[in-house]
Amino acid sequence: MCGIIGVTGEADALPLLLGALHQLEYRGYDSAGVALVVDDAVWRERTAGGTDSVAKLASLTRDAPTGPTRAAIGHTRWATHGSPTPENAHPHVDCSGRLALIHNGIIENHAELQTELEAGGHAFSSATDTEVMAHLIEQEMATGASLAAATCSMLRRVRGAFSIAVVHADEPDTIVAARRATPLVLGRHDGAALLASDIPALIGHTREVFALADDELAVLTPGALEVTTLDGEPVTPEQLTITWDLEAAQKGGYEDYMSKEMHEQPHAVADTLLDRRGPGGELILDQMRLGAADLRDIDKVFIVACGSSYHAALVAKYAIEHWVKLPAEVDIASEFRYRDPVLNERTLCVGVSQSGETLDTSEAMREAARLGAKVLVVSNVVDSSMARAADGVLYTRAGPEIGVASTKCHLAQIVALEVLGLYLAQILGTQPTERINEVLNALEVLPELVADSLDRVGDVDDVAAKLTDARDFFFLGRHVGYPVALEGALKLKELAYLRAEGYPAGELKHGPIALIEPGTVVVGIATRNPLWEKMLSNVAEVRSRGATVVLVADDGDEESAAVADHVLWVPPTTSLISPVVDVVPLQQLAYRLARLHGHDPDRPRNLAKTVTVE
Ligand code: G6P
Repeated sequence: MCGIIGVTGEADALPLLLGALHQLEYRGYDSAGVALVVDDAVWRERTAGGTDSVAKLASLTRDAPTGPTRAAIGHTRWATHGSPTPENAHPHVDCSGRLALIHNGIIENHAELQTELEAGGHAFSSATDTEVMAHLIEQEMATGASLAAATCSMLRRVRGAFSIAVVHADEPDTIVAARRATPLVLGRHDGAALLASDIPALIGHTREVFALADDELAVLTPGALEVTTLDGEPVTPEQLTITWDLEAAQKGGYEDYMSKEMHEQPHAVADTLLDRRGPGGELILDQMRLGAADLRDIDKVFIVACGSSYHAALVAKYAIEHWVKLPAEVDIASEFRYRDPVLNERTLCVGVSQSGETLDTSEAMREAARLGAKVLVVSNVVDSSMARAADGVLYTRAGPEIGVASTKCHLAQIVALEVLGLYLAQILGTQPTERINEVLNALEVLPELVADSLDRVGDVDDVAAKLTDARDFFFLGRHVGYPVALEGALKLKELAYLRAEGYPAGELKHGPIALIEPGTVVVGIATRNPLWEKMLSNVAEVRSRGATVVLVADDGDEESAAVADHVLWVPPTTSLISPVVDVVPLQQLAYRLARLHGHDPDRPRNLAKTVTVE
């Protein structure tokens, strides 16, 4: 998974490329590179530098040719085929070195194509799946084809997922781009044309942004975009709505994006709830595209997601089953798509994805649509690929999230899914209006409660300081506390690189309790949900075996405090929506332990923000 950027018609392209690559680092950052068409030749620089790749690239490009740049492309990589080395960094070139290509995605049939190309005399210089594309285009151009025509022919031969951009010294002002199943957007302004993996990389350069669809080819020349199908049929690309400004995508004075984004959580929750109620207080989700008539005959809900989005989905299962009285199944996207899930036109299949680009989730949604289900996507990115492909969309309004470990988007997802649950209850008549209003009123107070929780960061820091030597953590919860426990454990793994298991507390006695010994830290979610008493019994079981117990508990709950070594107090709220508040101290705990262990919370090792590969 990688980030790509390209521009033509910008004589001083390098600063633009480097700035955009910084913006795209969340997509991967193990290596980076650029290629510029200058003085009738392609000049290329690449580096592999761990989390500093783009910064290293910036210093390496100081000796770039000084002449005006014609077309230019840049890439930040997250290795899939071939380790993160400068040789495997993009752009890749053909045998002549006059063609340079960048790619995000995976070419599945690269091995057979490489064998064929090598037999034809092509020499490869990397261990990537990408390089075959450069040589295939070279082969076509040798027969007299233009860069665009040769790229088209190449695309007919490759299988897999890709967004690509190609430049050639023979057509110095042109960039040819295409995509299949991974993101790519196009932009245009004052004599320049641009492309990038996502919208924030183009903000600051243009607001005229267009979507490229699967199997479309774009030819960018200064100030112009020409889009066709692979068969050469002209296409008018869809113009996208830009709701973010550049400042919103910057750190805003915080030490890192994660701190900034945690502090934006009250806004993320409040904005996600905005404009959802009609004049009579009833819920109106009119931008959702799926109308009441579509939803009235559903008899089952499937929710499919990955990572933190999956944990938000698990919270929604409790809410939907309770409010809507329909079976709600939750599945991990990478498993769902390869099972034989039983869905039909009466199933509502909800894909939850912050980015709206996660390949496992988008493919799962494609499968659900194929089986006839109604597909609804909960996404934070307006016009994301998944949002555009679905029957309906419910946007979270958390703004861009740059920190790799999701925080504000996770909270916004829980809120959006609970609003969806209440909306279904309203349409299907499974809850009285007063009850729906009661929950909506409680949801509307959440921003204050989240802000209050955030203010207690000093208490979390004190607890974290006492846990710096701990290496083994269990996160336990019951009922809606269980997904909170899973999310707390995931955050600690991602950020502090500590072994952390999330478990339903009642299941502990069936095996994992064997691992509890003095020194094990057990973090329990002990706010007052319907299983609170049983949760305290489970906590007593681990405490008597020597575990150090940290509990998240409602303000003033001395009964919970009595069985804990440390308490992280939170303001109480209705149990079904309590995860939105309860997860906050766990985010802060993981953040502080990451810092205490010297890790960068924004860019955890081996991870990427948006995973557009399997
Ligand atoms: C990656 C990120 C996680 C995120 C997951 C799902 O693994 O590191 O933080 O929860 O993808 O992402 P999505 O964009 O689909 O919500």
